[in-house]
Amino acid sequence: MTPESSKDLLAYTPMLHARMFTETATFRNHHFQPTRSGLSSMPVLDQIEPTDRYLDGNPSVDRPLFVQFCTNSPEEYLQAAEYVQSSCDAVDLNLGCPQGIARKGQYGAFLQEDWDLVYRLINKLHQKLDVPVTAKIRILETKEKTLDYAKVVLSAGASIITVHGRRREQKGHNTGLADWSVLRHLRDHLPAETVIFANGNILRHEDIGRCLEETGADGVMSAEGNLYDPTIFAKPPAVGQEGREYWRGRDGKGGYRMDAVFRRYMDILYQHVLETPPPERKPLFLPSDPTDSIVESGAEGRKDPCDGERPSKQRKRDKNAKRCTSPNLVAMQPHLFHLLRSLVSRHTDIRDALARCRAGDITAFENVLSMVERVTNDGLMDYDFDPAKYEEAYETNSQKAEKSEEEGKDESSLAMVKACQRPWWVCQPYVRPLPKEALEKGSMTLSKKNMKKLEENETIDDESHQLNGEPLRERIDRADGVPKAEMPKESMVCG
Ligand SMILES: Cc1cc2nc3c(=O)[nH]c(=O)nc-3n(C[C@H](O)[C@H](O)[C@H](O)COP(=O)(O)O)c2cc1C
Repeated sequence: MTPESSKDLLAYTPMLHARMFTETATFRNHHFQPTRSGLSSMPVLDQIEPTDRYLDGNPSVDRPLFVQFCTNSPEEYLQAAEYVQSSCDAVDLNLGCPQGIARKGQYGAFLQEDWDLVYRLINKLHQKLDVPVTAKIRILETKEKTLDYAKVVLSAGASIITVHGRRREQKGHNTGLADWSVLRHLRDHLPAETVIFANGNILRHEDIGRCLEETGADGVMSAEGNLYDPTIFAKPPAVGQEGREYWRGRDGKGGYRMDAVFRRYMDILYQHVLETPPPERKPLFLPSDPTDSIVESGAEGRKDPCDGERPSKQRKRDKNAKRCTSPNLVAMQPHLFHLLRSLVSRHTDIRDALARCRAGDITAFENVLSMVERVTNDGLMDYDFDPAKYEEAYETNSQKAEKSEEEGKDESSLAMVKACQRPWWVCQPYVRPLPKEALEKGSMTLSKKNMKKLEENETIDDESHQLNGEPLRERIDRADGVPKAEMPKESMVCG
């Protein structure tokens, strides 16, 4: 993105559990790091020593930032918000989390029946906090009810309302599509100055403009689309201006190369987390380059940041080795599995190498990057040699989509798969199968009652929903003595 266009971006922290945040210093310090010395007291930004300032909410690299909490206690919410208010631009309330853990803890979308409590939570911060309070909701059963609910949230003092266009029951295999028409209804019936962010169905860059147009929202939020394709907010370069980071096929469709994004991701970590210059890298390969320029290994002999000198194999055997807990480094593997999804499903050796990477073992991640660069080079050359091979693969999906339309399955994800599909070395979204398709494939099973509801196009109950056959339950993981709030589950939509 250009420096100008990146000014349009706003980031939210992951949802933090307000009670754990207020009660446990280790939880705070592992989940929000505006200072190196930790958040055991409440720092005022101006008073932070420049050398003590760290990444979260840092005015030079991490603003604007909204910190999001889940809670059902106005007092705990305020106390948690006071810790972070000097390091963010607003404090958000997650009223959208549909997971079993939120049901058990009575927060997130399970507060949407208790409008009085919702009002009190938001109003407490509106009255007492120095920065604005905002809220994220899901839509309710009807447009009218959603509008009434939004009015409660706004009248309590929320400065911005983010609306996820799915109902609470729409999660996991039952996620389905977000309903933008409800967002349009809110836009048309709330005062014109109300700031609305739309959420749901943002898979590709072009969806952003479409969503703003259709809903009349002031901004869009993207979570999953952004995880699979971190370039989602970047405008594609003009034809002929692709450079080395963007790839465009002969049909004009393209996207940013995974090896390019992986490199940038690594380099951000070197710069901001490891605080060491990134390794010198050869320019990304283009088939028009001389063949001897094919990239070999990226950064030989780099030190592992978490525990130094030992090679990763040896450390694997050492059960007493200290586990790396830096949130920036722990997030690498899941981030990269999202980014590289289509590439690793084809190159399973790279999938296995990534699966073996331990948090903090930068050498191992650099090795995966080298593997990704090598197969990308091969893929680019293969495409140049025989583009029709790749176009045939799209064709198969087009035919399936057309067949599905003919059969009257108007709600099919195949058309979207077809629109999004790119060669495996290009960043691309993952298109979830719709609930009916998940049922057909057997990845979702339903009780007779819910099956009947689905046939009648009703929303299915989430009571019986399980993830990978396991019921969801509240859990506090105390590995390494570091309590963690349960993280949103892979394949679950949280907010
Ligand atoms: C891995 C993951 C983690 C999420 N964590 C949060 C969260 O902490 N807070 C929140 O409000 N929503 C969270 N969500 C939900 C998203 O904000 C968003 O409402 C939902 O995924 C639909 O938007 P999308 O289609 O852009 O993904 C999460 C979603 C995913 C996939």
